[in-house]
Amino acid sequence: MSPGNPAMTPSPHINTVKIIYFSGTGSTARVADAFESELTKRGISVIKSEIKQGNICSDEKEDLLILLYAVHAFNAPRIVYQWIDSLSGKREIPTAVISVSGGGEITPNTACRLSSIRRLERKNYRVVYEKMIVMPSNWVMKTDDGLAIRLLNILSSKVERIVDDLLQGVVRRTRPKSIDRVFSRIGEMEKTGARFFGRNLRVNVKCNSCGWCVKNCSANNITMLDNKPVFGERCILCLKCIYGCPKQAIEARTLKFIILKEGYDLKALEKRMHGIQPAAVEDLAKGYIWKGVKKYLLED
Ligand SMILES: Cc1cc2nc3c(=O)[nH]c(=O)nc-3n(C[C@H](O)[C@H](O)[C@H](O)COP(=O)(O)O)c2cc1C
Repeated sequence: MSPGNPAMTPSPHINTVKIIYFSGTGSTARVADAFESELTKRGISVIKSEIKQGNICSDEKEDLLILLYAVHAFNAPRIVYQWIDSLSGKREIPTAVISVSGGGEITPNTACRLSSIRRLERKNYRVVYEKMIVMPSNWVMKTDDGLAIRLLNILSSKVERIVDDLLQGVVRRTRPKSIDRVFSRIGEMEKTGARFFGRNLRVNVKCNSCGWCVKNCSANNITMLDNKPVFGERCILCLKCIYGCPKQAIEARTLKFIILKEGYDLKALEKRMHGIQPAAVEDLAKGYIWKGVKKYLLED
């Protein structure tokens, strides 16, 4: 297989697909749902499962694995690597790796599948396909509502295309640039930053001890102590607790700039944009930061 150009293999016989995904704040979960619905429509049976701390991988009878994850600092989140490392690797399984980012396929994001693919290949998984899906950004810079709604609207057709490719046996691997390896290494520092960030989370007076954060933390990093949430060392910086807290009671004491002041709520975005025609992509996506989003929305 030569990386860089899409190639074809004889159409694979696919009866069962396993979708495994990590989502902090709900975008990747939506992408996983879109894959499930597209595959089910075509009569394929789907096993869908979320990566969470402590969920051990069982060897299913899938003909294809689709791994989806939110991009964190041009890499996969730590919990995804832990999941890959827990695989038994007994059977060679064709695999598609789909990364979900706010910025699209531009440098340094192009580094974001390097480590996960290397780890999967070490475990005997045969990575036949890789692709970036773009969803609204949940960190540092908010995606304009017009662009964000366009990203949600285009999702099903993007997924449809990928499913077509996978069922037709299209092989799609991208050629990593040498600079990607450097970016991937730099991005890995986020993993240490995440632990530091988590240790410095606190609840304010608005906390009513409902336990939402404890129940929903993917990393099992939050416990109740004296009826108040306490944050441990396992944070993966997914921001789920901060955006999802029903009382907005969780505050960061470090790296505050990464949290969007407006919060991150895709349902609220859909409500806000209901009946509104977004402006043209070229007018909304200006500058290098949004170049990957523009390309994604305008490409065929
Ligand atoms: C800690 C952190 C790091 C991120 N790093 C990147 C990045 O390097 N490139 C990018 O395009 N988006 C980045 N994002 C944005 C997310 O990849 C994007 O918003 C994604 O849709 C979130 O998916 P989720 O809702 O399933 O968690 C980052 C988000 C977080 C929380």
